[in-house]
Amino acid sequence: MNIRFTEPYLPTQASALVDACLRSGQLSGDGPYCAEAEQRIKNLVGADHVLLTTSCTHALELSCAMIDHVDGGEVIVPSFTFTSSATAILQAGLVPVFVDVDPSTMNIDPTDVIKAITSRTRAIMVVHYAGIACDMAALRSICAEHGLLLIEDAAHAIGGHWNDRALGTLGDMAAYSFHATKNIMCGEGGAFLTTHASIAERAEIFREKGTNRKQFFRGQVDKYRWVSKGSSYVLAEPLAALLSGGLAEFDTVQQIRRALVERYRQRLSEPSIETQVTLPSIPSYARPAWHLQHVLLRSEGHRDDLIRFLREHGVGTAFHYVPLHSSPMGLECGAPRRPLPATDDAAPRLLRLPLHTNLTVANVDVICDLITQWVNAQ
Ligand SMILES: Cc1ncc(COP(=O)(O)O)c(C=O)c1O
Repeated sequence: MNIRFTEPYLPTQASALVDACLRSGQLSGDGPYCAEAEQRIKNLVGADHVLLTTSCTHALELSCAMIDHVDGGEVIVPSFTFTSSATAILQAGLVPVFVDVDPSTMNIDPTDVIKAITSRTRAIMVVHYAGIACDMAALRSICAEHGLLLIEDAAHAIGGHWNDRALGTLGDMAAYSFHATKNIMCGEGGAFLTTHASIAERAEIFREKGTNRKQFFRGQVDKYRWVSKGSSYVLAEPLAALLSGGLAEFDTVQQIRRALVERYRQRLSEPSIETQVTLPSIPSYARPAWHLQHVLLRSEGHRDDLIRFLREHGVGTAFHYVPLHSSPMGLECGAPRRPLPATDDAAPRLLRLPLHTNLTVANVDVICDLITQWVNAQ
């Protein structure tokens, strides 16, 4: 048996789409395929301003580059996240301030956010872990009260909702990932979203090497020039063609993933298993994006033992994230040292189970049978 941890979703017409793009002659970005993919994202999540980027990391860098600040400006971010959330903050010359998570979801803990706010805080970056919404009522009201920008690292979260609103449209700016491991993918890719026309205008320029090239192509200026700081974050057309094909099949992808997650949740909530394996909770305000299926074990040792057991039976699993606050760069980057007991306790106990569109409900049953066998041997 060989059940892979992850496999990329290839749209049904993937080769034909990329081939048509290659033959069209336009391979650099912001051509018809980028426009089509951006429109599909807008329609899907109800966003006004969407810019495709080369990765979610770059969309986060673009978000942080939009934050006005003086030296020492701070951005609050969970320690339990991918490095990109923090590197984007540092790239913009801001200081990450790491906060704790609620272990029932592994999402940012609003009570710790309040404790971390100082006169230097400029923004809060939240991560909808596994595609399950953070407590946005609390986080939005903290931002409103303290005049802070709200950035959603929605790498896992396209298609997920907080109440009836799409994740990625709830703050000032957001970033999606279309990396090969994500629900919809183009190998490497991302999207930047903002709810503000003024930020969209600045971000469009920053993303195009600091030039007003897009304004030139729209006929708004007579030549394009260097007008601001910038970088190069435009997605190439062949990747946008692949992405657009995936987005067109979004509902099918989500139905498959949802059925798999529901089966995992049904099987792993059996009383005999619950003593050893804890499922994440799904708050009543959250409609998940079905991106990851993670569980918490009783200890790091139990987690590592279950990884080994499943590997011996041909099932691939993974764990992450090594908390950022205690990582070598986290200790050196100027972040204030704060106790993060929930992160320290939960992160080493977390295990991610296979979840991809080539997995079947029968595969999930096999995995859950193996977990049951392991639990019974404890
Ligand atoms: C929370 C989070 N943010 C950002 C990223 C970076 O995404 P990308 O690989 O598209 O740059 C990841 C990657 O998985 C992630 O998990």
